[in-house]
Amino acid sequence: MKGHRRLILVLCVALVGCGTILAYAAGPNKTSREFREQFIKNFRRTGMDTTISDAMMLRILVESARCKRGIEVGSYKGFGAINMGIGFERTGGHLFTLEIDPRRVKDCRENLKTVGLEKTVTCIEGDALKTLATLQGEFDFVFIDAVKQDYFRYFKLIEPKLKPGAVIVADNVIRSAGAMKDFLDYIQKSPNYDTVIIRASLEKRDGMSISYKIK
Ligand SMILES: C[S@@+](CC[C@H](N)C(=O)[O-])C[C@H]1O[C@@H](n2cnc3c(N)ncnc32)[C@H](O)[C@@H]1O
Repeated sequence: MKGHRRLILVLCVALVGCGTILAYAAGPNKTSREFREQFIKNFRRTGMDTTISDAMMLRILVESARCKRGIEVGSYKGFGAINMGIGFERTGGHLFTLEIDPRRVKDCRENLKTVGLEKTVTCIEGDALKTLATLQGEFDFVFIDAVKQDYFRYFKLIEPKLKPGAVIVADNVIRSAGAMKDFLDYIQKSPNYDTVIIRASLEKRDGMSISYKIK
């Protein structure tokens, strides 16, 4: 009996040891909450990336409205896309993020892969004024964050694809209000949308519009 026990103990220790070695060799679990939080915290952001609070607000909007199909216009390095992507992963949805600059497309795809979101978020290369037309089906979430003067043009391409109940977020609507006057006039005056302008981030002197498509 004593011999058996010793053998079982040795086997257990060997199994734990092998497990530890395999886990170490496989590297960090890139889909774990801890790994992603660290990645987001250590992300080398510039003024072009969405702020941490704005990105979290986008994620919460996706999650709370249980959004299933989203569009982001202007991916940059994917900071916003990663944060929204975590939300879409939880809702079982998908995000399409559109980026014109091939270097940024590469950065965005690499970053998405690093945190294991490459299946939940698709980065589409090209001018959104052209690629938006290629997106099929209906959408219930939009984040517009590219050329400020073109917000209304992006939105008019997206609007026919929007479901009632869709959430539309636009960035930089305070400091660039003049450049996107046509977009803001439309979304604030149309009886089809409820709209509010908020500042979720104290990091920048700017804000976002959040609209809800009533019908
Ligand atoms: C402010 S950054 C986007 C930041 C990103 N949304 C985030 O959450 O971190 C704007 C991006 O829009 C891209 N862009 C500009 N014009 C575009 C267009 N016509 N189509 C697609 N992307 C465009 C720029 O190359 C840039 O990477």
